[in-house]
Amino acid sequence: MSAFQQRVFSGVQPTGNLHLGNYLGAIKRFVELQDSHDCIYCVVDLHAITQDRAVWGGPEQLAASTREVTAAFLAAGIDHTRHIVFNQSRVSGHAELAWIFNCVARIGWLNRMTQFKEKAGKNRENASVGLYAYPNLMAADILVYRGTHVPVGDDQKQHLELARDIAQKFNIDFADSIAAKGHGDAFFPLPEPLIAGAATRVMSLRDGARKMSKSEASDMSRINLSDDADQIAAKIRKARTDPEALPSEVDGLEDRPEAANLVGIYAALAETDVDQVLREHGGAQFSTFKPALAELCIEKLGPLTAEMRRLNGDPGHIDEVLRAGGERARTIAAETMDAVRDIIGLLR
Ligand code: TYM
Repeated sequence: MSAFQQRVFSGVQPTGNLHLGNYLGAIKRFVELQDSHDCIYCVVDLHAITQDRAVWGGPEQLAASTREVTAAFLAAGIDHTRHIVFNQSRVSGHAELAWIFNCVARIGWLNRMTQFKEKAGKNRENASVGLYAYPNLMAADILVYRGTHVPVGDDQKQHLELARDIAQKFNIDFADSIAAKGHGDAFFPLPEPLIAGAATRVMSLRDGARKMSKSEASDMSRINLSDDADQIAAKIRKARTDPEALPSEVDGLEDRPEAANLVGIYAALAETDVDQVLREHGGAQFSTFKPALAELCIEKLGPLTAEMRRLNGDPGHIDEVLRAGGERARTIAAETMDAVRDIIGLLR
């Protein structure tokens, strides 16, 4: 396999409310990778419109949500001058490569995607073709920059496996041409998911069997990045738990999904691991642990929320960040697309 320059790519959809799961599973990790990698962070607006308009809210809401996700990136500490921050639709290479990948990926592969099944629900005949082909666009997002590492939450694992399958099939199908055009034995890297830490799957505060999600009807099920201290405290106070005290060891969290979720959130916010949290809080009742968790959450999210609010008041700045980021992204994507055209035999 050829050696590829390391490059991080990840994306967040501008749909609904950004929540603690998005922050701990993805955005916080984006920030951590900045010192060691070249990073591209994208607000994936073309993914948002794969669902019904009622879900993403129409043109004005889409534009506002795109700016809001960008504000969250910047407020969390992503440095848009050293790295690239932009919205997906500005760079046509994403959609162009997605078409090529529609011709590489197999229908059988897409039929296995659990997220499509969940999102389309019983009404599958009526889901958009875009929702079905969504994982191909996601593969294109990463591979149009020949991204090697992809920080995501646990729910994106299957999509990343598909992206690897697509990259590999392209490399095999066009192996002769890839070599002839001087790209060695592989044109696309097989992107690696980076799924790590104590909060790769943050669960609903109302039901430890369900993922914390933007689309869950109950606002009490999630902590939004726009929530104030009182809202955070109330949501944690009312979070569902069981009657037992916290165990002193990880084994004791088995079959206690709600307890495991709160301990995981605590560990991720405190930048430690679950063992350490249980060493400190083992034996505590939720009446003691919940206020400690709320305090930590408010301490960590407060500055982020305040900075998001400040940035939301300056849309001109956000738009300029996205414009400049889009230009830089476009240059890299254009290079990849030129090479892809040459490899396939599409005249340019
Ligand atoms: P999206 O917008 O649903 O979520 C953004 C990121 O947040 C993570 N996440 C969670 N992590 C932990 N616990 C949770 N409850 C939770 N909910 C969401 C997601 O795993 C994700 O990392 N398909 C992607 C967006 C995308 C993308 C890409 C990601 C499009 N192209 C290319 C990586 C690379 C999505 O819908 O994420």
